[in-house]
Amino acid sequence: MYKIFALLLLILVGSVVADVHKFKIRSSHIKRVGASLNHGTNSLDWCPQCISTFDDLIEVTLDIILQFGIMDTCGHLCDLVIEKTGSELLGLICTMSCDFLGLEEFAKLVQSADIDPIYYCETIKLCPINDNGDAKFKSFAILPPRAQTGSTIDVNMVFVTKNGTGTGEMIIMIQTVDKIPLASGFLLEAKQPGTYGERITIDTTADPDCDPTEKQCELWLEGTYNVTVMLCNGQCGSHHPHTAVYDIGRGSFTLYEE
Ligand SMILES: *[C@@H]1O[C@H](CO)[C@@H](O)[C@H](O)[C@H]1NC(C)=O
Ligand SMILES: *[C@@H]1O[C@H](CO)[C@@H](O)[C@H](O)[C@H]1NC(C)=O
Repeated sequence: MYKIFALLLLILVGSVVADVHKFKIRSSHIKRVGASLNHGTNSLDWCPQCISTFDDLIEVTLDIILQFGIMDTCGHLCDLVIEKTGSELLGLICTMSCDFLGLEEFAKLVQSADIDPIYYCETIKLCPINDNGDAKFKSFAILPPRAQTGSTIDVNMVFVTKNGTGTGEMIIMIQTVDKIPLASGFLLEAKQPGTYGERITIDTTADPDCDPTEKQCELWLEGTYNVTVMLCNGQCGSHHPHTAVYDIGRGSFTLYEE
């Protein structure tokens, strides 16, 4: 029963999840507080670096391909990446991915819309994989449940993992009263078995810098807002290997005006 419901919900939120990745929606209203510091045993952790620079790498590489066409070697391509960005790290990740996938595959990846940084950073062995992982919410609380418009709402979550988790993602989606979808995704680094807390804040002040001619601006009208959080192995909704939805948490809060 729960599975069927989860499946329906997945179909429902699937398009929003796709949008999170395609348009890199990162709502400025949603913030993660004190991202967990548990990085396993490696003191030098390249995984978050790889994931956060992968989007830049794709963008720069795409520029280069548009400008110069496809290069003849990975070295040539990645030298241009370093030259354009001044970043040795991007150059390194470019070289590792290009050597690993081959120049042609790498160019294909860059040009396809199918971008899944977690999967590619796992493929080049900078992020750990765990396909027997699990995570279940132990608590999911939205506080306060009723607040004046302009308040900050806290989403407090605790989840338990018995087998540990693979490199994954936490996505938070808010169904708003004015129907503007708000969402953000955050990296969940691979974890040892244990109990972990996550906290997200939602700022319900209309953004004064939001330009309604450029994008839809959330108004935070009175009413009830539904909040959905997904914990995933890999990128939520991805069709690549090492991907699964561990758990889904749901709740709501209500805003009122003075
Ligand atoms: C934990 O891992 C074992 C295999 O190592 C697997 O059989 C089991 O299903 C996993 N548990 C969960 C909750 O995924
Ligand atoms: C929140 O969920 C309830 C119940 O599923 C639904 O009736 C309501 O329309 C949803 N609210 C928004 C703002 O989408």
